Amino acid sequence: MGEIIEFKNVTRAYGTGEHRLLAVDHISFSIQEGEFVVILGPSGAGKSTLLNLLGGMDYATEGEILVNGTNIVGYGDDELTEYRAKNVGFVFQFYNLIPTLTSFENVALTKNIVKTAFDAREILTSVGLGDHADQFPAQLSGGEQQRVSIARAIAKNPTMLLCDEPTGALDSETGVVVLTLLQKMSREKGKTVIIVTHNAALAQAADKVIRVKNGKIRDVTVNESPMAVSEVNW
Ligand SMILES: Nc1ncnc2c1ncn2[C@@H]1O[C@H](COP(=O)(O)OP(=O)(O)O)[C@@H](O)[C@H]1O
Ligand SMILES: [Mg+2]
Repeated sequence: MGEIIEFKNVTRAYGTGEHRLLAVDHISFSIQEGEFVVILGPSGAGKSTLLNLLGGMDYATEGEILVNGTNIVGYGDDELTEYRAKNVGFVFQFYNLIPTLTSFENVALTKNIVKTAFDAREILTSVGLGDHADQFPAQLSGGEQQRVSIARAIAKNPTMLLCDEPTGALDSETGVVVLTLLQKMSREKGKTVIIVTHNAALAQAADKVIRVKNGKIRDVTVNESPMAVSEVNW
């Protein structure tokens, strides 16, 4: 397993003059292929900005972001579109499902982005929602909606799953179900999974923990023997 992601001195500045703010401030770190990574930090630390930069949804002001050895900083719109389609599955706090489409249709949409996307019904079954394929988001619990959104993210077989506070809207029990599924994506499918959270307990289950504050890295720790999510003491 080699390094799949490398941030080199990456900065994202917003605003100008006295309003200039470094949401991400000269950050460097690397992530190995297949790693289960947790990014921790208080609100406003720059976690979402960091994830959006990696996901090709925002532009770095400075530095290099290497993905499989290629620098995505400086990519134009078309290159970023292709990069996102091939590499990135995104999971959001509030699921972002289309309310007028069933679970099946929400996942099947990925076929429009990537021709080789997995069969939506198979993917829904793999996240335990085979029986909910024809239900609309409003007919599902929060945890089920998040599992549909994970199914949607993995349907196009991306190299990485980027999850921004994926359990932020869930009760703790349902959150564990979702986190267990995400850890399984890393352990069994070899996906590189990066989870932004402010629940420090999840650090026990991570291969790597990146702590962020005020746009800077406070420390990076590697767990030699990470716990299963189900064993974590919440
Ligand atoms: N589009 C934007 N324009 C201006 N400031 C922003 C923008 N996005 C984020 N910020 C600022 O950058 C900092 C980091 O934000 P964010 O990455 O959302 O933090 P976190 O996800 O850790 O809560 C905050 O101070 C936030 O207000
Ligand atoms: Mg955020």
